[in-house]
Amino acid sequence: MIFARPQGKILIAVGKEKSARNDVCEALRCKDSIEKVFFASGIESEVFFIKENDFKDAPRLKKRILEIKPFCVFNLFEGYGEDSQKEVTFVKLLESVNIPFTGNPSFTLSVCLDKMKAKSILRKNNLPVARGILVKNVKNIKLKGLTFPLFVKPRSEDASVGIYKDSLVYGREQLAAAIKKRLKHLPRGVIIEEFLPGKEYSVAFLGNDPYKVLGVSEIDYSRHEGFLPFLTYNAKWETKTREYKVVTPDYEPKINKTLKKDIINLSAKAARALGCRGYFRVDLREKHGNFFIMDINPNPDINEDSGYMRLAYGSGRTYAIMIERIVHLSDYH
Ligand SMILES: Nc1ncnc2c1ncn2[C@@H]1O[C@H](COP(=O)(O)OP(=O)(O)O)[C@@H](O)[C@H]1O
Ligand SMILES: [Mg+2]
Repeated sequence: MIFARPQGKILIAVGKEKSARNDVCEALRCKDSIEKVFFASGIESEVFFIKENDFKDAPRLKKRILEIKPFCVFNLFEGYGEDSQKEVTFVKLLESVNIPFTGNPSFTLSVCLDKMKAKSILRKNNLPVARGILVKNVKNIKLKGLTFPLFVKPRSEDASVGIYKDSLVYGREQLAAAIKKRLKHLPRGVIIEEFLPGKEYSVAFLGNDPYKVLGVSEIDYSRHEGFLPFLTYNAKWETKTREYKVVTPDYEPKINKTLKKDIINLSAKAARALGCRGYFRVDLREKHGNFFIMDINPNPDINEDSGYMRLAYGSGRTYAIMIERIVHLSDYH
């Protein structure tokens, strides 16, 4: 038991919405596993459901949390399908009342919800990112030197939402169609960036700076002939699809030691530039022997069978140890 005996209870915050979307249901499943860990450790916990309406009266929401006097909020709240920004609003609220919470601060969450902003901060820190532009209107797109094939992805989503077969485009016509389709649902715009064709890596970290590396997973798309060379929404979440079953990361890849060191160093620098804390994953892809930071995932899925946890198990940590460690890193003590 690594807990300094806390006073009071831990509040497990999770969103409640009427959604059948798999990535939303996952947070609820995670809540159950985490509750079990606290129960087994003799830590009192309470589940706190956050409904969309709660944000209409923020002072009341604040008051309800303060009345419970939690020593820490275990934050599984990811906003809503139609409004991921609420994830940031909620953490800002916790910051404003100085209640310790697990995972990443509002600054990091907010930057990572805007992939264009994240890219720009990384670039300013001399870290390699794919060249890209933001598009909010399908008319008069200026490619500014970008060459096909290109990749079209939402500016402000995660979990491969909006990543489908038509994300990879080879010409102007396909590009316009892919943008048009997405802009209908994505008022904040889409990013067009150069396609990185090589292996995809994901580095799992634990800790406040300095960070501990839990492990690196790899997807080698060249081994999955006949499948799309990127992680679509189906490949990530739709358990009944062929791509979900086949296009899976290798959690114990054989990576050359020097390359692995480079991947980890780049990822740690990127995480530091965005102020990551607690638990997070950094995704990269390779092009012509160079690595590019593709995506930073603060507060990634930490279900028992998640990619993040698989890497943690590979490092010799159990689920319970990980959950306790994540609480400890909230600096509640
Ligand atoms: N520039 C790119 N080149 C190649 N593949 C990409 C690129 N950007 C994203 N992808 C693919 O799309 C997936 C999802 O994109 P990502 O930027 O990680 O967003 P999300 O937040 O949805 O995970 C990635 O796992 C990767 O397979
Ligand atoms: Mg990603």
